[in-house]
Amino acid sequence: MRNWTWVLALTLIVASAVFAAAIVAPTLFAKPPQQGQIGTAQVPWAYGYNTPAKAGDGPPAAGGGGGNPPDNVTQKHVDGSTLAFTQAQIGNGFGPADWFPNDHPQMPDIVAHGKRADMVTACSLCHYPNGKGRAENAGVAGLPYDYIVHTLNDFKNDARKSGDPRKANTNRMIGFTKVMTDDEIKAAAQYFSSMKWTPWIKVVETSTVPKTRIAGGLYVALEGNDKEPIGQRIIEVPVNGEATETLRDPHSPFTAYVPPGSLKKGKVLVTTGGGGKTIACGACHGADLQGLGPLPGLAGRSPSYLARQLYDIQNGFRHGSWTDLMKPVVAKLTPDDIIAIVAYVSSLPAASEGAR
Ligand code: HEC
Ligand code: HEC
Repeated sequence: MRNWTWVLALTLIVASAVFAAAIVAPTLFAKPPQQGQIGTAQVPWAYGYNTPAKAGDGPPAAGGGGGNPPDNVTQKHVDGSTLAFTQAQIGNGFGPADWFPNDHPQMPDIVAHGKRADMVTACSLCHYPNGKGRAENAGVAGLPYDYIVHTLNDFKNDARKSGDPRKANTNRMIGFTKVMTDDEIKAAAQYFSSMKWTPWIKVVETSTVPKTRIAGGLYVALEGNDKEPIGQRIIEVPVNGEATETLRDPHSPFTAYVPPGSLKKGKVLVTTGGGGKTIACGACHGADLQGLGPLPGLAGRSPSYLARQLYDIQNGFRHGSWTDLMKPVVAKLTPDDIIAIVAYVSSLPAASEGAR
């Protein structure tokens, strides 16, 4: 009898060790996926595409200089600014228009002008001078200094890529970090972390959304009132397409349309972990999800951006030394869970009284 017990116990120990090795080893030792390798849970909407990437897809070829150069005569305006800029100035990669100079502290050179010699585009072109960013890139205002330095180095060291090989602007972002000095990284981190994140995305549950076109990863509502089913997507559009897309107005906000029921489902997952499906986010990102120590705030940020990150982390495209803490959070999430989680998180107020 006694022998049997031992044999059984030993067999169980060996069996569970083999079982554990089989599960753990591939995740510990597997090479991170190469860019262009296709994950299983596709969320192409988050990357600005209607259909999943196919093997072999890459970023679109750079424009071949076709079309007219941007107009450098007509003076344009945005609501609330007394300044005027031409379209050429608005899109100038080495010193884009700053519509609201009183919005923000003085920009360090790398943020205001980039670095022409190394083809580093001014951070303020894509992320705006106030760091609010757009759905197709990232909001960077109010992220902790240490987090910004860390994640820029992850980009630099190939620990952070896009899960969608077609996403050209992420590739450009990676390219900039490769030629940024430590001092430039610190200056940019100091600048963007010195500003608060403030709300500007309205989350709306709906089963139908405006028909859209996609411009460089940004969804823009078409003229007219044509609608289509939302399906399992989040459609994040500028409230004023012209102000955002053409004039790059950093005060012009966004609406994020999310499937019905997302907020309720997301709240359960985010606040309780959903009975083991994930881990409640507040423990690490702060009770109000506005960041904790070096960890980034999530509340009120772009749901498309957040979904890309959860997907990139889940599929190993983002795998820096801090990313391990997020692995158990995302391991069991389905694309629908991701939609619900980011919808809820984005709907939260960005800054409560007395936050950081
Ligand atoms: C061509 C547009 C573009 C420019 C210019 C640009 N970025 Fe980015 N940046 C992006 C995109 C796109 C992402 C998001 C990547 C993703 O979603 O996968 C990003 C992400 C980031 C993030 C990560 C945010 C987070 O929450 O983890 C930081 C920090 C950042 N950029 C800083 C900078 C700095 C500093 C500069 C200037 C040197 C800069 N960016 C210039 C496009 C740009
Ligand atoms: C055990 C701690 C921990 C928990 C719990 C946790 N996170 Fe995180 N999270 C992190 C860390 C650490 C990072 C930074 C990862 C990196 O730098 O790659 C992060 C990064 C992220 C990012 C990327 C942010 C950005 O600006 O790019 C998102 C999105 C995110 N977490 C969402 C969530 C959500 C949603 C939950 C709850 C469902 C959650 N996290 C729970 C530790 C945690």
